[in-house]
Amino acid sequence: MPHDDLETQYAAAESAHLERLTSAEADVEERAVEAALRPRTLDEVVGQVRVRDQLGLVLEAARRRGRAPDHVLLSGPPGLGKTTLAMIIAAEMSVPLRLTSGPAITHAGDLAAILSGLNEGDVLFVDEIHRMSRPAEEMLYMAMEDFRVDVIIGKGPGATAIPLEIPPFTLVGATTRAGLLPGPLRDRFGFTAHLEFYEPHELDLIVHRSAGLLGVPLTDEGSSEIASRSRGTPRIANRLLRRVRDYAQVRADGLVTLPVAQSALDMFEVDESGLDRLDRAVLDVLCRRFGGGPVGVATLAVAVGEERETVEEVAEPFLVRCGFLARTPRGRVATPAAWHHLGLTPPAVTGGDSTLFDEP
Ligand SMILES: Nc1ncnc2c1ncn2[C@@H]1O[C@H](COP(=O)(O)OP(=O)(O)OP(=O)(O)O)[C@@H](O)[C@H]1O
Ligand SMILES: [Mg+2]
Repeated sequence: MPHDDLETQYAAAESAHLERLTSAEADVEERAVEAALRPRTLDEVVGQVRVRDQLGLVLEAARRRGRAPDHVLLSGPPGLGKTTLAMIIAAEMSVPLRLTSGPAITHAGDLAAILSGLNEGDVLFVDEIHRMSRPAEEMLYMAMEDFRVDVIIGKGPGATAIPLEIPPFTLVGATTRAGLLPGPLRDRFGFTAHLEFYEPHELDLIVHRSAGLLGVPLTDEGSSEIASRSRGTPRIANRLLRRVRDYAQVRADGLVTLPVAQSALDMFEVDESGLDRLDRAVLDVLCRRFGGGPVGVATLAVAVGEERETVEEVAEPFLVRCGFLARTPRGRVATPAAWHHLGLTPPAVTGGDSTLFDEP
């Protein structure tokens, strides 16, 4: 076996043990790296033009009135910039940011302690706000609307409610699951921003910006190659950039060119559409072994040797978003685009059901 093949196999085996390169979530270590790449002002934010304009207006108006801005809800998939925007809101208002998260607030008392420590104008950032406990949620409604809460002391008939005034503050909530937020909580946000996936040319700007900050020399073609494989997600773009930089330093002269980016990402098994090994395995099994479907997700999972949840929650959402896979009542179906992506010719009648993909 040629040396190169062995090397590639070794790298593949090793990368299988690492976090998925195309996961939109970040672990603790990565969050530290990300901090250095976060835009610090609204002007530095790339893309999300509408959200940026609207938020800019809300903040400017609040500044002119000399008041804390309305509560802001940021929703959208992981890695698109919710935490970044929360930090920018505090920075643009020149106030401190208090940071907590839904899962950290298990009792209403936890929240009362945080709220009572706020100063006038502070920004309170509650990440994963949909995961807060019910009693804490109810306390939060009250705090958001009236800037006061009732703290319950004691239990049973002897319990007393002590009212607690809270200085006017701005709540910034972030959620990947806006649908899970109870209506009353959602309604108390004066401004809701929904973040969308980024266009390739926006990701291209982000890759250029991050490369500048990290001191990675790269060509325009190298940058746009990374951008186009990043699944519309800045976090993934930044991560791919770091892996391509490693490759460029070890296997080339350090400059990220188109061929360097291509070889690096091929080695890490991220293809031209941003699909990774699991994504491709799912499509491959679906087309080659099950004739394009429909096939149940449990069967599909066994065929690729993964847990059903992994296939359903990790691989499928992006395949559906790309238009490669459809979830139908009778099972998963590969679209003609999926067949083409694998270099195969779609059968004349996909999955034995000609009504699924009628020609227009
Ligand atoms: N508009 C943007 N311009 C430039 N970089 C961005 C932008 N949005 C996000 N990023 C980069 O992507 C990384 C991830 O963003 P961020 O942590 O804000 O995502 P998030 O939406 O909070 O994700 P999660 O749901 O996992 O908490 C940041 O390090 C930041 O550098
Ligand atoms: Mg975040």
